[in-house]
Amino acid sequence: MNVEQLNREFGLPKLLNFFSDDSGLILADLAGGQARLCLQGAHLMHWQPKGQAQPVLWMSREAKPVAGKSLRGGVPVCWPWFGSRSADVPAHGYARTVLWQVVDSQPLPNGGVRLTLCWSQDAHPLWPHACRVELRVEVGCDLRISLMTCNTGNQPLEISEALHTYFRISDIAAVRLHGLDGVDYWDKAAGRSELCTQDGSLSFAEETDRVYVNSAATCMLEDPGLKRRIVVEKVGSFSTVVWTPWVDKARRMGDMGEPDGWREMLCIESGNALDNTLTLLPGDRHSLQVHYQVT
Ligand code: BG6
Repeated sequence: MNVEQLNREFGLPKLLNFFSDDSGLILADLAGGQARLCLQGAHLMHWQPKGQAQPVLWMSREAKPVAGKSLRGGVPVCWPWFGSRSADVPAHGYARTVLWQVVDSQPLPNGGVRLTLCWSQDAHPLWPHACRVELRVEVGCDLRISLMTCNTGNQPLEISEALHTYFRISDIAAVRLHGLDGVDYWDKAAGRSELCTQDGSLSFAEETDRVYVNSAATCMLEDPGLKRRIVVEKVGSFSTVVWTPWVDKARRMGDMGEPDGWREMLCIESGNALDNTLTLLPGDRHSLQVHYQVT
């Protein structure tokens, strides 16, 4: 569908407007501009609820929509695998670069809006399985995102997944992350091959890349600099990935926003990865739901 057809069928006055930018990709403004989503990747690029002086999601200063390329920031959808599966396939799967279809839009009783997108396949060159995936975004004073996978084929499916959320913070050295005390994790940055156990809350002084497993715990990001707390509450997600690239990796990546864009972001990713990889039998569905609130 083009922009006119999308607006005719799904547009909602003051709540949902589709438009295309210089790249030719179609974007959607939600809730009067409080949020923006790119249909490529079903990628939420921006969320700044009323009353917040700064966006809640971080987006690299250098990011701009480009066909076939994921944006650095916002909420990339990692699916049908999380992380690097092998050298010849893209890290974090391909959902973040394919074009999703809009299937529904609804005004919400709280004055917000819900937009539902879908990706369905009989097979894909990188992953030859039949399935249907739905991403639902609800924007109001808080944000809810759900990612639902249904196995529409006749073979069991193995998936790992994550909503790879980049949060805008005042300074990486000043924030604390609560909620993971006692939870086991794989330490990717340190390259350890045994599980570690979190002791207390997290603060950050170096590259951190951890996959916390077997816990659906609510996390709370405390940011004294921006005088706010971000609460990440989830259902159907048993892994939490915590990632900050720090200076050297950010420089190698080259798209974090010079000179120190990386200092103003922290990823808290809700998903199912490693030990929590899912197996969906034919006809099964799994739903990962995350609720983000700012206080
Ligand atoms: C995180 C991984 O989820 O994503 C990191 O744990 C990775 O290892 C990061 O560097 C960014 O991945 P990408 O593919 O978007 O550069």
